[in-house]
Amino acid sequence: MNYRRLGKSGLKVSEIGLGSWLTYGSATAEETAQACIRKAYELGINFFDTSNSYGGAEQVMGSALKAYPRSSYVIATKLFFPQGDGPNERGLSRKHIMEQCDASLKRLGTDYIDLYQCHRFDNDTPVEETLRALDDLTAQGKILYAGVSEWSAAQIADAASIGGRLNLRPLISNQPIYNMFERYIERENVVKQCETEGLGLVVFSPLAQGVLTGKYKPGQAIPQESRAANDKTNGVINSYLREDVLACTVKLEELAAELGTTLSQFALAWVLRQPNVASAIIGSSRPSQIEENIKAIEVELTDEVLARTEEILSEVSGFAPLR
Ligand SMILES: NC(=O)c1ccc[n+]([C@@H]2O[C@H](COP(=O)([O-])OP(=O)(O)OC[C@H]3O[C@@H](n4cnc5c(N)ncnc54)[C@H](OP(=O)(O)O)[C@@H]3O)[C@@H](O)[C@H]2O)c1
Repeated sequence: MNYRRLGKSGLKVSEIGLGSWLTYGSATAEETAQACIRKAYELGINFFDTSNSYGGAEQVMGSALKAYPRSSYVIATKLFFPQGDGPNERGLSRKHIMEQCDASLKRLGTDYIDLYQCHRFDNDTPVEETLRALDDLTAQGKILYAGVSEWSAAQIADAASIGGRLNLRPLISNQPIYNMFERYIERENVVKQCETEGLGLVVFSPLAQGVLTGKYKPGQAIPQESRAANDKTNGVINSYLREDVLACTVKLEELAAELGTTLSQFALAWVLRQPNVASAIIGSSRPSQIEENIKAIEVELTDEVLARTEEILSEVSGFAPLR
């Protein structure tokens, strides 16, 4: 495994991270979830991502990781999405941050969270209040670092400037979606702004939820036991299942085969070509997927291959499943 520094911080995360959305604590059976987490750890993954809004994922990840020395892995969780019906049970107010941090610590069964992420931007709370609460949690030792997820370039610039003025510990990461079909972070200056402000990128859905593994074929039935086949998990992936997208994945898979890799390895290596992407956070419903995907770190992409990839991708446009 290779490890990269997360932004300007001294924290090092594995190039492939393991997430838990729509899998652990929900669609994936407990025993399989534990086996996936163990497999990831054994293969050198040290970066584990979860959220207070992923069903029972925090408990499952926390209990699986308990088997290993706490210093050997990085646990990242998040808050923002509603935890109840009350007006203070959501968002990024000081009250909610303090309460949810304690709740996540309990669910994870740990004394500290390595990376605490604001899952979205909160228009109803001054950024200064959020940054101060995160800084206080760091001073209390409940979190080690703070980051954000899906914040825009302007929101990141603003937070860095306010935090700097108030002499608060800087945010160290941003977690946006990023894959061959979802490239707004390139277009909307998020990659550049994060680099300028010292935030590293930990990107989610790098395989477009499985579409960039090549298992969904144009004109063919959706494979059983896949995310797209399950009505509880296919809400977002359905928007990728268009004929033009699937035709494109066939061409990408052919190109990957020329390189001697699978499409999922190629797609992950493509995401990791960006130097400020510290980790590509994959999901996995079975250990064998992790074994396959992790080999992406060995794949090198030449300028010629990148140019051919652009040509293939130019046939598809208009993506924004999560925005
Ligand atoms: N910050 C945010 O707002 C946000 C949003 C979404 C996700 N995330 C984080 O990012 C993580 C990853 O997101 P994601 O699950 O969408 O990532 P992904 O890696 O793009 O998709 C993962 C899914 O693809 C399928 N898959 C993976 N490898 C495969 C292989 N080699 N062969 C066949 N199928 C394979 C599996 O689903 P099946 O086997 O079930 O088909 C797997 O669960 C999440 O767990 C979460 O931690 C964050």
